[in-house]
Amino acid sequence: MSGRYFGGCQKAGSRGCHGWKVSGLTDWKTIDYFNDQTLAEDPYPYFADLREACPVLPLPHLGVVAVSGYEEATEVYRNIDTFSSCNSVIGPYATFPVPLEGDDVGAIIDQYRDQLPMNEHMVTMDPPAHTRERALMMRLLTPNRLRENEEFIWRMADQQLAEFRASGRCEFIREYSQPFAMLVVADLLGVPEADHQRFREGFGLSATPGGIGEGDQSDGELNALGWLDGWFAQYIEDRRREPRNDVLTQLALATYPDGSTPEVVSVVRAATFLFAAGQETTARLLASAFKYLAENPGVQDQLRANPALIPDMIEETLRVESPVKTDFRLARHNTTIGGVEVAAGTPVMLLNGAANRDPRRFECPAEFRIDRDNVRQHIAFGRGAHSCPGGPLARVEGRISIERILKQTRNIRLSEEHHGPVGERRFTYEPTWILRGLTELHLEFDPADGDQ
Ligand code: HEM
Repeated sequence: MSGRYFGGCQKAGSRGCHGWKVSGLTDWKTIDYFNDQTLAEDPYPYFADLREACPVLPLPHLGVVAVSGYEEATEVYRNIDTFSSCNSVIGPYATFPVPLEGDDVGAIIDQYRDQLPMNEHMVTMDPPAHTRERALMMRLLTPNRLRENEEFIWRMADQQLAEFRASGRCEFIREYSQPFAMLVVADLLGVPEADHQRFREGFGLSATPGGIGEGDQSDGELNALGWLDGWFAQYIEDRRREPRNDVLTQLALATYPDGSTPEVVSVVRAATFLFAAGQETTARLLASAFKYLAENPGVQDQLRANPALIPDMIEETLRVESPVKTDFRLARHNTTIGGVEVAAGTPVMLLNGAANRDPRRFECPAEFRIDRDNVRQHIAFGRGAHSCPGGPLARVEGRISIERILKQTRNIRLSEEHHGPVGERRFTYEPTWILRGLTELHLEFDPADGDQ
């Protein structure tokens, strides 16, 4: 991989803001973003320093160009002709059997892309394969299906909360957000409720302590869903043999836009990828939202009094703590981003977590403001052809969880035993360069009285 960089920064200039400033503390020139675990705890000073140096900046490692500016990241997301998604998940670790040399490496990418990890999933595809698979996916995510799914989500929120509500405490991620987000996807796909416990065990999210199943996902690996493929293949083959009046049958009989029937394996991939894409992301979003609520009792009261504010609070959480902090593209040919020249074959790192805190777009970006006018401009769900088709679902999951939990509890607070006293709080975050998320969130609360 050449990763050549031609330079020419159109620097944005420092935008001073009350309460916001560039840190200047990180030595971005020596930091290895992909291996420096200290960044997992708080990547934001580093992101701010990158942007200050240049919103489109070559990093010292792996030939990566980092895009930390909002306009610049959006520009890349929208340009699918120039930027391939083949490395969207594995980033700079996409290696080809031949060097990516020359002014145009598009043909090399197309020739060898099926040797890259995750190549079978739509998130790494480019047109025309992506267009076709995305159309199939959108047949699974119809407005009708999402409406039916919403009924389940209301019920699921109460059911999950009931597992620990009386105790007045929980480890929120393990006991609420992970099983909740997983079962919402299972229901979306029409997995019968009789099989839900089997899924919880499979994902190692059983309510019974120690119930770690064969497909434990605690290692956070995106591609560790082989066991699930087997289960879905069975569902699909079964429904193709004997159609029933259920969602799995609709899934099994879904066709491509040209009317042809996908192979079982394609339907299975589309289905199981939803777990990889929709589970940890949503679970971490919910955890960030509840961390904020636990730290801001006044906001809990405000949202209890006026639940119509909850959607904006979720958007601001997505902006301030974007669960997918990093996304990737590969430049097919020599090009420019924000006026900066970038060579063919360069892995381009789109830092959603930085772009969503770009002071040129969001005033005082580090401040959490529920009433921020332009909050919906955030790019936590990406932009363009690959933008997250699960965004509406994640938003509904967030809205319903917050509404139901606030209604059934009072005085949600952080556990001092686990997170330390005010002023000396401690949190740990997933040690990955892709996701932004707490590893644990220990909450305490008073169960609310009366009929909820
Ligand atoms: C807070 C929760 C979520 C966040 C922050 C999030 C974020 C993203 C982002 C940034 C992308 C774009 C990837 C790219 O352009 O390379 C994406 C794609 C995707 N997301 Fe989500 N997502 C979330 C929840 C979900 C849910 C709940 C589902 C479905 C159940 C889902 C399904 C997908 C799929 C299938 C793609 C691939 C789309 C494509 O390649 O065309 N996501 N997501």
